[in-house]
Amino acid sequence: MSTRRNFLQKFSALAALSATPPFLDSAQGKTFLRSIDRVGGLSLEESIQDETFWYQVRQAYTVSSSLINLNNGGVCPQPKVVQEAVERYNRLSNETPSYYMWRVLDEGREPLRRRLADLAGCSAEEVAINRNSSEALETVIFGLRLQAGDEVVLTKQDYPNMINAWKQREKRDGIVLKWINLEFPSEDKNYIVKTFAEAFTAKTKVVHVTHLINWIGQILPVKEIAQEAHKRGIEVLVDGAHTFAHFQYSIPDLGCDYYGTSLHKWLCAPFGSGMLYVRKDKIKNLYPLLAAPDAESEDIRKFENLGTRSFAIEQGINQAIDFHEMIGGERKEKRLHYLKNYWAEKVNKLPKVQVKTSLKPEFGCAIGMLAIDGKKPGEVADFFYRNFKIHSVAIEWENIKGVRLTPNVYTTTRELDTLVTAIQQLSKQA
Ligand SMILES: Cc1ncc(COP(=O)(O)O)c(C=O)c1O
Repeated sequence: MSTRRNFLQKFSALAALSATPPFLDSAQGKTFLRSIDRVGGLSLEESIQDETFWYQVRQAYTVSSSLINLNNGGVCPQPKVVQEAVERYNRLSNETPSYYMWRVLDEGREPLRRRLADLAGCSAEEVAINRNSSEALETVIFGLRLQAGDEVVLTKQDYPNMINAWKQREKRDGIVLKWINLEFPSEDKNYIVKTFAEAFTAKTKVVHVTHLINWIGQILPVKEIAQEAHKRGIEVLVDGAHTFAHFQYSIPDLGCDYYGTSLHKWLCAPFGSGMLYVRKDKIKNLYPLLAAPDAESEDIRKFENLGTRSFAIEQGINQAIDFHEMIGGERKEKRLHYLKNYWAEKVNKLPKVQVKTSLKPEFGCAIGMLAIDGKKPGEVADFFYRNFKIHSVAIEWENIKGVRLTPNVYTTTRELDTLVTAIQQLSKQA
């Protein structure tokens, strides 16, 4: 079956909740669908470099054409079909909130759970839908049954919200945080795994692993770290904020016990949508962050006692999954990797320029970091913005310093050529 027909069928399967998205009925949307059909006839490698196709993908977004957004390492925009769905569900909710939200849209949560589980490669009974990685991961950080003196291993390169949550538990409950400090970029799995393993002691109960270090784009070998942890009876919490729907893997394959992600990052779902995974046998003993009727229930739904939330945002996740599947997870991963390497390979031999993210798919994907000798990260980001309207982010966090540059599926190679010109000019001034 053609990808296009598949895509439209998915939309019609959701007919109870959604009409055909207006974008797909527009002339631009029809051209976009035709390009999806066409690319289905190409090999994966051909499709990755088919700029005409990716230009049509760009038309499916509402991204600015006056600003080059290379800060998808923060949060990602939604395709038009997602924006339209959220607006439609929101209007519907406002017709009679208690009816449309609680009796109609809420009915969509179970099918959505199954779709997310399919994408994550796990059971739907292990997936809770929530608002973001912070909420998912803090559910675990505050829900684990830890005693004073129990040790948790984490890194200085983890995300601040997670670090702060662990510090709060340290203060409140007397747990002990064992910090490791990793040097990036690294293409040495042994170094990373060994650094974690050396921090484990007989008192270690949990290891917190960030799957992709947001500051610099480094991918960590989670599976191998989890194996070392499990050998010692240590539980594994994975921060997957930046990896879900960015590159392909199944959550159970990571070997973790708990995992949280934000769907408004690489899935391009509505802002304020996230997901928590808890391995089936771990659900009972994990307390929910917001109380449930039975805190020790084995039902994953105990983590969804949010009270009234935006049902429009939640249901809009469906259209983001449709869009992701239409492009194809593998094609998207390879294109993102291609785009990072596209600019990085053009500049990494220039004098004074350093690309601080691995070009190998095992250690990096879309997110890349650049440094120019003699220039502060803030100076580089300012130069890009002032002279080329490139939106990037300067990073100075622990031992990581540079400008983070992150394209997305709607980024054109022409935009990246502008970035390369900007880097060439600035490196000559350095
Ligand atoms: C590694 C990592 N973890 C957690 C988060 C928190 O994500 P959110 O703000 O969606 O909760 C981020 C956000 O950028 C992140 O990069």
